[in-house]
Amino acid sequence: MGLVLLLPLLWFVVRGMITRRLAVRLFVFFILGALQGGIGWFMVASGFRANSTAVEPVRLVLHLSAALLLYGAILWTAFSIRWPQPEPTAQTPGVRLTRRLACISIGVLCTTIIAGGFTAGTHAGFLFNTFPLMDGHLVPADYAQLSPLWMNWVVNKAAIQFDHRLLATLTALSIGAVLLAGLRKGAGLGPQAQNGIILLGWAVLIQYALGVTTLLLVVPVWAGAVHQTFAAVLLGVMLYVLHTLRRGRPQG
Ligand code: HEM
Repeated sequence: MGLVLLLPLLWFVVRGMITRRLAVRLFVFFILGALQGGIGWFMVASGFRANSTAVEPVRLVLHLSAALLLYGAILWTAFSIRWPQPEPTAQTPGVRLTRRLACISIGVLCTTIIAGGFTAGTHAGFLFNTFPLMDGHLVPADYAQLSPLWMNWVVNKAAIQFDHRLLATLTALSIGAVLLAGLRKGAGLGPQAQNGIILLGWAVLIQYALGVTTLLLVVPVWAGAVHQTFAAVLLGVMLYVLHTLRRGRPQG
């Protein structure tokens, strides 16, 4: 990070090549990256305790979420440098609806990613290796085994895996709604936003298929790694779509 981020940043600042605002933002990214190293240490430390065979799922999810948050912020900054002005489209009801649906979709997607972290962290993917049924049921029989209910979402493997499947399906459906709203005749989106939405549709299909493949093959490392990586790709495409749909700021 020192080589890739800090040295070029200092060079750009010394040469006056970037604005002060951007320099501060990039420096904050550097600090957050260092903090991410700290969170990584905090996560790994939990795996070294006596009687522990793996890191704590909550810490793993914290590490995954913090990494993706930083990744998203860096990507958004890069998009804003590459495309400083939004596409010149009228703010039609179609554009507004697509933007609203895309905002809902990214919320569902982030929740799915968190649930995915719990699935990996508790090794819940090594059970119920059938799809769409889990042990012959759509909803596993011992979904609400623990009380209070929320405990099942972080501890009970059956519930954790079911939540991840359900949220993934909701992500796919909500992205489907973005496609319908954005590509409808007369929606008024520019070509960049339309292409982004088509890419988003493909990305969620691929990610869903990778998830089912990972599950049916009982989580070989390569499949788990590809599924995790593609979650980041999907999040990146989602951010790209939101970036193309953003409202323009008044000039000046
Ligand atoms: C929008 C769709 C999906 C997204 C964004 C998503 C995202 C994720 C993420 C971020 C992880 C955590 C990876 C890690 O930390 O190692 C994960 C794990 C997992 N996901 Fe998904 N997922 C999706 C769909 C699915 C589907 C449809 C299934 C199966 C029905 C599935 C099955 C799994 C399994 C079994 C794991 C655990 C893998 C392991 O133990 O390494 N996913 N998912």
